[in-house]
Amino acid sequence: MSVDNNIFSQNLSSKDFAKLKDFIDESCGIKLSENKRSMVEGRLRKRIRALNLSGYSEYIDLVLSNGSNSAEQMHLIDVITTNKTDFFREPNHFTLMTEKILPYLASTFELGTRETLNVWSSASSTGEEPYTIAMVLANYFGLGGNFNVFATDINTAVLQAAKKDVYTEEKASDIPFDYKKKYMLRSINRADKLVRFIPEIRSKTKFGRNNLKDEKYIVPTQVDIAFCRNVIIYFDAPTQESILNKICSYIKPGGFLFMGHSESVHGMKLPIRNYAPTVYIKE
Ligand SMILES: C[S@@+](CC[C@H](N)C(=O)[O-])C[C@H]1O[C@@H](n2cnc3c(N)ncnc32)[C@H](O)[C@@H]1O
Repeated sequence: MSVDNNIFSQNLSSKDFAKLKDFIDESCGIKLSENKRSMVEGRLRKRIRALNLSGYSEYIDLVLSNGSNSAEQMHLIDVITTNKTDFFREPNHFTLMTEKILPYLASTFELGTRETLNVWSSASSTGEEPYTIAMVLANYFGLGGNFNVFATDINTAVLQAAKKDVYTEEKASDIPFDYKKKYMLRSINRADKLVRFIPEIRSKTKFGRNNLKDEKYIVPTQVDIAFCRNVIIYFDAPTQESILNKICSYIKPGGFLFMGHSESVHGMKLPIRNYAPTVYIKE
């Protein structure tokens, strides 16, 4: 029997797509709908060629035959996840933080009920969200302020990019000028048009791999603010509720949860109440 080794002429069969969908759902909660099939095909094609495999079936058998969290499974998750993000995305969240939430939390420092302010970006992608948070905190408390930003994501490639901390000037154009001036450095060779954060911002921002579907998270402490933005849209309703309950268990009572503007907690049983649109306070 002749085997068609040209990955460009193959389609991902319904059977293989179903196997892949089950694996992705089980391992990280992401629901792949039928209309994602061609996106998945395209993204896997490159990997199949790099591994010199005969096609989708061989690749899927290889991934699924490996133990959980094998390097290839992590790679598959890296390929499947959608990582769109921006600096100061949904900017009214950061205005609210500066004008209302940080003054309130700062007053609890004065009362002696807090020593360090801990913020968690729970789906941090390539770092734009946690570095934005770090800049906003530095702008409020000063660079020497007692705050930490923990940033986690399931995708190892985006975490690597975030830790590398090198962005194009174009990407950084969403950052207000005075923040750029205070917290960013330009590459020595200006023609590269690259920027990065000053060491004080970088040292306040710690990255780690975390699967929101896991029983336990690696967040080292209870946090005052958790960001869970533009990630639960990829999960079904029961997974959303279970993940949000777990995230809430890492937020101190009286702390805050920020969600994406297109996300809703409607109908879920969670220990939070509404504070502002898409911002919640932990009870
Ligand atoms: C669209 S980005 C959102 C980034 C950022 N929060 C924002 O709003 O700009 C979604 C991120 O969620 C991550 N993600 C998806 N499933 C995850 C899971 N089960 N655990 C942790 N992160 C996950 C993806 O890797 C991706 O980087």
